[in-house]
Formats: sequence, structure tokens, C-alpha cells
Amino acid sequence: MTMLQRTVGAEVTRVEGREKVTGAALYAYEYPVPDALYGWAVQSTVPRGTVRAVDTVAALSLPGVVAVLDSRNVARLRPTDTPELAVLQSPEVAYRGQIVAAVVADTFETARQAAATVRVEYDVDDHDAELLDGDPRIFVPETVNGGYPGHTETGDVEAALAAAPVVLDATYTTPPEHTAAMEPHATIAVWDGDTLTLYNGDQGPWMTAARVAELFGLPEGAVRIVADHTGGGFGSKAIPRPPTVLAALAARAVGRPVKVAATRQQMFTMVSYRTPTLQRIRLGAERDGRLTAIWHDALQQSSTLTPYCEQTVTCTRVMYAARHRRTTHRLAQLDVPTPSWMRAPGEAPGMFALESAMDELAVALGMDPIELRVANEPSVDPGTGHPFSSRNLVACLREGAARFGWAGRDPAPGLRREGHWLLGTGVAACNYPALTWPSTATARAEPGGGFTVRIAAADIGTGARTALTQVAADELGVGMDRVTLDIGRSAYGQAPWAGGSMGLSSWGWAVSKACRALTKRLDEVSGAIPPGGLEERADTAEDVEARRAFSRHAYGAQFAEVRVDAVTGQVRVDRLLGMFAAGRVINPRTAGSQLRGGMCMGLSMALHENLETDPRFGDFANHDLATYHIAANADVRDVQAHWLEENDDELNPMGSKGVGELGIVGTAAAIANAVYHATGVRVRDLPITVERVR
Ligand code: MOS
Repeated sequence: MTMLQRTVGAEVTRVEGREKVTGAALYAYEYPVPDALYGWAVQSTVPRGTVRAVDTVAALSLPGVVAVLDSRNVARLRPTDTPELAVLQSPEVAYRGQIVAAVVADTFETARQAAATVRVEYDVDDHDAELLDGDPRIFVPETVNGGYPGHTETGDVEAALAAAPVVLDATYTTPPEHTAAMEPHATIAVWDGDTLTLYNGDQGPWMTAARVAELFGLPEGAVRIVADHTGGGFGSKAIPRPPTVLAALAARAVGRPVKVAATRQQMFTMVSYRTPTLQRIRLGAERDGRLTAIWHDALQQSSTLTPYCEQTVTCTRVMYAARHRRTTHRLAQLDVPTPSWMRAPGEAPGMFALESAMDELAVALGMDPIELRVANEPSVDPGTGHPFSSRNLVACLREGAARFGWAGRDPAPGLRREGHWLLGTGVAACNYPALTWPSTATARAEPGGGFTVRIAAADIGTGARTALTQVAADELGVGMDRVTLDIGRSAYGQAPWAGGSMGLSSWGWAVSKACRALTKRLDEVSGAIPPGGLEERADTAEDVEARRAFSRHAYGAQFAEVRVDAVTGQVRVDRLLGMFAAGRVINPRTAGSQLRGGMCMGLSMALHENLETDPRFGDFANHDLATYHIAANADVRDVQAHWLEENDDELNPMGSKGVGELGIVGTAAAIANAVYHATGVRVRDLPITVERVR
């Protein structure tokens, strides 16, 4: 008998690390598929209208061009609840950048050159791509992304605000933002009769397969996704995007495999973005800081194709106690590309507004911002009335403050100076739901003594494969070296995305259950493995369903120290410190790296990220990473993520909460609050650019 080895909780390095750094790991575009052609999308140059004619003569005369596709010569797809995936299904144009034609050729370069010669004529309609409050088309959706109610109201907020001795009323804005994953979207589509294999950069292989099968009217299982490695996604690869559908349509049309890779420039309109938000927050408080009223309204945009509405105010429903509460989403459907999930959709912009407002209220009350938050700590979830499975926000604030060195902070703004630099510190709380989704896993004892565990998980760089190997090894009572974790294939069964921070909690549950069943079976046969191996399959649908009603969220406190150039207004973030409570941490190395990565994204959101909408063209003016700024190494100095021990039995067998998105939430508010402390200038509009600080 080997000694039972506990690997959960250990600082394990990535199991596929060597494969990745040596270039052996295959990403979607790199699979050696024989006989493949190359597809290139032709995108609409108008925001709204109808394609009248597509002139393909010049393109088809180029040597190497195999086909030019448009809405007249591709397969018909089934009606879909994701209309932006109805690629080339009609001549109607709903946004600038929409795919209106495509070239298939024997090389990538030929396809690109030919695409440039395709002449598309449009009947152009008037368009409206500007998100303006007061637009008569604005409506309150019944439900928003995640299935949350669009609007909630308890008590009499207006009356409570009118009676409150201290009131805050402020409007915050966040711009549209781009997911900017390192690996651009890529797909190789291979048809074999009515079976479709897609090598696809993917956050959720099983989910994608199901959706593509539906689109093509194929039975479940007829579409297979292969996504062994994916280079980031941040929501943009959580569902198939138009380039994936184009690859499948093109391969169908030409009868050969087709590779489609979106260029960095094409990604800006083809693979989704975060909606801009215009948020108004009204808070009413007693003089001791206790909130009596919370009012949060968020105006957002979607395309005319679909009313996608991000859950921007749901975080406010959970955060603070107050008797009178109102939270509302409002949506305008414009002639713009369809927004979608991006890096803590909802929480990231929503908590920027709420946690900035809490800081402003603390200033108005003359109260320490940490004490203000502690004073409003609820005993149950204020939105649902459910008990918390665990909530250690106060402990995060206290412990974070101690580690950061918050004590003795002079709250007066604009006082600390080092040469031409103004110095300041800020704090913000964060939360993110601890979600889980039904999953299926198989665990197999091989005759040679090894174990193979299969689940349709995706590792988008997070370390999921490694953490799942740890979970499996512990359940099986063997060392990690005896366990092979196969992920990234839709054929392994139902599993959710590497998204919504629910990956590890969901997949790990099924892996743990399958391994436990296998261990039991091995005991029954006294460890005698038949020549064909022994396999157990587990499904967590009923387990997930049967859980008690609890409010399940991870929490944290974000601290920022900034310096602002008194002359130029340049903001530098000297230090970020996050103190989190996210259940049991499976792998401190990969979890810490996710949390720090999230904080860097928060820094990026605070200072840089901004899609400039040009309403004249109905599109974004920046189409590359030279003009769409994300934080670079030089922006990131001291970023620390710490966490508390947290035991929560109401989650899953590992006791884990997701850490993929928690780190980005609250960071931008902590930085904006620190900028206020440094300068006395309250920036309510992201990003915090020099002209907004001075
Ligand atoms: Mo994440 S935006 O939920 O993939």
C-alpha cells in the first residue's frame, strides 16, 4: 500500500507546464488536420442595412480560391436563441463588423487577399449606436443574464431617502471593454458525413458542442469539440462565436476541412465585448453610518439581435443591509455588435459603482470606509433572505487592513506628497457568486496501475487540469503521478464552462464522485483490476439540485496604494493587496495566480481599458491592442493576494468557491478611491485617465 498522499492544498505546478513552455501543447489552430483550406471573413462596413449584391468575380479569379460564400450559398441553420450565430443566414445587416461573406482558399494569405477584392453593396438604413439615457426604447428586462430578476424592490426607497439625514446620489459610468484573450479565436472544422469535429479555442467544450449541434439540426453527440488547450477567453470563448460557425458552414460548403482564425482586429467586433454601463446609486444613511436605503440603477446596451442584459446590480442585492432597497437594470437595443460575458460580467462594473459610492458616503459621514462597511454587514442575504453558506467579508476587511497597514490613515484627501507625486490609499469590498453546474465524469482504473479521469472541462490557462488531478489523486488515495486527467473533449459528457467561476467547483464535484465510486468498486474486487480496466461514471445533476437554499458567494477586500502626478495627472498603482475568502483553496499556486491576474485586470479596467464607440459608424474606433490599452508589465508593481481559511460545507465536496473572477471585482473602486484620497478628485467615469484626474 502506498501512503495516502494529500495533494489538495499543495502548491503543485501545472501538470502541462512543460508541454506548454516547449511548444508541444496544441492550441486549436495548430492541430495537424490534412487537406485543410483557409477561411477568411468579409465583414460588414455598414451598421444597418441589407446586402444587395456581392461581387465575387475578382476573388474567384485568384489562383487558390476555392469558394466565396455569402447568404445565398451556405447551409440553412435552425432558428436560434443566439441570433448573432445565424451566420450568413440572411442578407440583413444588424451591426458593423457582421460577417456578410467569406472566402475559402488554399492558403491563409490567398483567402485574405481575395477577401479584400470582394465587393459588397448595401441598401443602407439609418442607424443608432449611441447609448443615451432618456431613449424611449429603453426597457426593464424581466430577467437578466444568469436568470436574475431585472428589477427588485423592497420597502419605500423614495420615502427612506427623503427621510435620511445623510444621502448620496451619484452617477458612475464604465465604457465598453474588450475581452482581449491572448489566443485569438480559432477553429478547424472537419465534417465526416453528418458528424462535425471542431478544434476550437473553447471555455466550455460540452456547452459549445450542444449549441452547434442545435444550430445545424444535428443530434446530440454529432458535434465534437476538441479543446485540449485554450489561451484565455474571459467569457468570449464561453459560447461559440460567429467565426466558429463560419468554419463549420465553410467546411460543409466546400467538402473539406476549413481553418478560420480571427485576427486581433477582427476580434473587436466578432467575438463580443462588455456593455458600457451608466449607473446611478442613491444611498440613504443614519449619522452612525447605518444604511436605510439602497437604490442602484444600471443602463446598458445590447444589439438589435438579442436583449442580452448583464447582471450589473445583482452584487448590490447581496452586499449591505438596508430596509428599503431598489435595484434595476435598464436596456437599450442599438445598432451595435452584441455584448456578452466578460471577466466578472455584472460584478466588475457594478461593484465599481457601489464601492465608489460607499467611499463617497464614508467621506460624507466622516467615517472610516472599513467601519462603514462593517456597520452595514447583514445577518442574512438582504436580497433573498437566505442564510449565507459562509460570508467572511468583515474578516477580510480587518485582516486585509492589518496586512496593508491601514491603521492610522488620515482620511483627508490631497495631503500626502512626495515631490510632484500625490499619494493615497483606498479600499473596496468584492463579492462573486459561488456557482456550480451539473457535470459528468468518468474514473478508470487501468490494468497497469494508473488511473484515467475524463471530464469535459477546459483549462484556459488557469490550472484547472492540475487542480482536478489533485482532487482525483486525493479521492483515489494515490500520488498525482498515477492519475491522468483528460479534459477538453465534449464527448466526455455534460460539464459547464470555465466561466462564471464555476469550473473547478462543478467539475471537481463530478471528478470526486466518480473517483469515490471507483475506489468503492476497487475495494469490492479487492483491487483486482480486470484486463479491460474498471470504470465508474458519476453525474452530479441530482446533488447540485438537492442542495439547501443558501446564499453562496465568495468575498474579499481590495486595498490600493496609488501615486498621482500633480502636474500630469498620471496615476501609478504602487500596491494592490487583496484579502479573500473563497472556501477551501485546492492549489495555492494556481489560485493565487488567478486572484492576482484578476487584480491586474481590475487595474487595467481602472486605468486603461476603453472601447471608443464612434456613433457615426456604429462601431469601435480601436481595433487593436495598440489603441485598446490593457495593463502591461510596467503598470503592475506589487500585487498581493491572500486568503483566509474558510470552511463551508454547503458548497461541494471540496468546499471550494471559484476564484477566477473574484480578483477583478472591487479593484477599480479601490483604485478610484485611492485616487480621491491622493488628489481630492472623485473620478466616477472609467478609465481614470489624466484628463479626468486633473
Ligand atoms: Mo467568465 S466572463 O464568466 O467566462
